[in-house]
Amino acid sequence: MDDFDTLKQHIEQTLKIQCNNYKEDYIKRRLLSRMRSTNSTNYGEYLRYLKANQGEYEVLRNALTINVTEFFRDNDVYEILKKDVLPDLFAKRKRLRIWCAGCSTGEEPYSIAMILHDFLNQDKTLAAQIFATDIDKVVLAKAQEGVYSQKAMVKLSESQIHHHFTKLPDGNYQVKPHLKELIRFRPHDLMGGTPISRWLDLVTCRNVTIYFTEPQKDELARLFHDALVTDGYYIMGKTEYLGRQVENLFVPSNSVQKIFRKKE
Ligand SMILES: C[S@@+](CC[C@H](N)C(=O)[O-])C[C@H]1O[C@@H](n2cnc3c(N)ncnc32)[C@H](O)[C@@H]1O
Repeated sequence: MDDFDTLKQHIEQTLKIQCNNYKEDYIKRRLLSRMRSTNSTNYGEYLRYLKANQGEYEVLRNALTINVTEFFRDNDVYEILKKDVLPDLFAKRKRLRIWCAGCSTGEEPYSIAMILHDFLNQDKTLAAQIFATDIDKVVLAKAQEGVYSQKAMVKLSESQIHHHFTKLPDGNYQVKPHLKELIRFRPHDLMGGTPISRWLDLVTCRNVTIYFTEPQKDELARLFHDALVTDGYYIMGKTEYLGRQVENLFVPSNSVQKIFRKKE
């Protein structure tokens, strides 16, 4: 076993991140970036640094699970969600179960919750529950807290900010309880082989699988297929795609926005 393999094995044991399910190139790039920052000249040296500096474990976890996100990222998909997907689902069921997988710091589930809130307000017989999950407990804690800087709010309208956030004395904004109540944040590893729940009406997993290997992506598509109700929706990120082995599990609902429906 060479130094790279030893380091990977150590990461798997300590951080519980399955390196082999990510593209090797990607793992190497992230490690090299940490090695540069810690003045380590090779994998062995970085492993020694890691073991001697407990704080580095969390920094490395963040480096490996890039958490970039924003409210209403790729706005068009949210328009389709509002116009087509949610009306279709609510026409069939009054209670929707949604899984936002790889939710990072919460902007995605809160964006969905803002749209849902309008539906629930218009018809009091409707209800919804969002399960928002991520492998990274640090970002999940931030998501649960729901406090965002002014910079993070740029894509939100005045009305959205007014209805769904409280301005804090330090200039940050906190999500109001009526949105938080729609969401349950939970740690969950998408490579663990089990869904967070079943009988789901909608799964969004966006900008997460870009770093996964092809077999791992296929595995995940099967997992989502299994967890969805028949006709349930699966929304991927704009640059993501369904692999050949699994594309027959879904039918495209909106190809441009990467929205699919489960085929039985
Ligand atoms: C780039 S963010 C995407 C956030 C959001 N979905 C969006 O589109 O803006 C990717 C997230 O996937 C999470 N992630 C990476 N590997 C994961 C895994 N195996 N299980 C669960 N989450 C994972 C990361 O921690 C990170 O928060």
